[in-house]
Amino acid sequence: MEVFDSVSELRRWSRESRHAGNSVGLVPTMGALHAGHASLIRAAREACTQVAVSIFVNPTQFGPSEDYSRYPRTFEQDCALAAAAGADVIFAPTVEELYPSGASTFVEVEGLSDRLDGASRPGHFRGVATVVAKLLIAAEPDRAFFGQKDAAQVAVIRRMVTDLRLVTEIVACPIVRDPDGLALSSRNIYLSPAERVQALRLHESIALAEALVANGERRASSLIRAAKRILVAEAEIRIDYTEVVDWATLEAVEVATPGTLFAVAAWVGATRLIDNLLIA
Ligand code: PAJ
Repeated sequence: MEVFDSVSELRRWSRESRHAGNSVGLVPTMGALHAGHASLIRAAREACTQVAVSIFVNPTQFGPSEDYSRYPRTFEQDCALAAAAGADVIFAPTVEELYPSGASTFVEVEGLSDRLDGASRPGHFRGVATVVAKLLIAAEPDRAFFGQKDAAQVAVIRRMVTDLRLVTEIVACPIVRDPDGLALSSRNIYLSPAERVQALRLHESIALAEALVANGERRASSLIRAAKRILVAEAEIRIDYTEVVDWATLEAVEVATPGTLFAVAAWVGATRLIDNLLIA
């Protein structure tokens, strides 16, 4: 497996791969890779003949009081996991490589960026859209793979790709969970053992919403009320949002239909976690 740290190396590899008749898949990550990331790499491996994984803790998507400096950095382990899952190339640029001195160009997906996570993390999706645009322009992949776990992020990226007429197809992959239901996240390592148990409430609220939908309930207000009851029963949880939205626009809907997203975000102690259900 090759490791590139410059945009020019990545671009040359991608162009040569495609000229040789390969299709190129890109899996953007911030490292601290787990089985959720591995599932994206495997999906890329199945759909494309060459796979690049980017590992870059993107400073512009972290707020001033967020965890940029303490975000887990586990590069050696990440390379091993990526290789085992089928990556051909790792792209691990420095901050200076992606944000050259004086960088002043940003991508702003208006409207969508202020909804769900964007409402409580101002500027977050501006940073995400900017870095993903840089990665897609650098790697020119046929397909890029993202997790439904970060459903609002997928919506923002899809809008950006449509608006900028980028050629990459955006593929959303299912949420990978621990056996007890907790959605895998690089931030789960911040949880104390007690918080790890409390965090299961998020999945419980998702599972309840899923059961209600299976029983015919479609009213957003009922789904939200039921989920909130589960979350507020745990004193250590502070709800950020529980919403039923259209996945493309992230606008609230009153009635859940196929393609609607039931999404929750909550603080468990000092750690903010998210989870969601795509209504079938
Ligand atoms: P990161 O949090 O490292 O996640 C990288 C990708 O893995 C994202 O598409 C995310 O949705 C996916 N992922 C995370 N947990 C998952 C799980 N439990 N199951 C399936 N997929 C999961 O998301 C980012 O990085 C960044 O915002 C990035 C897109 C790389 C831009 O900096």
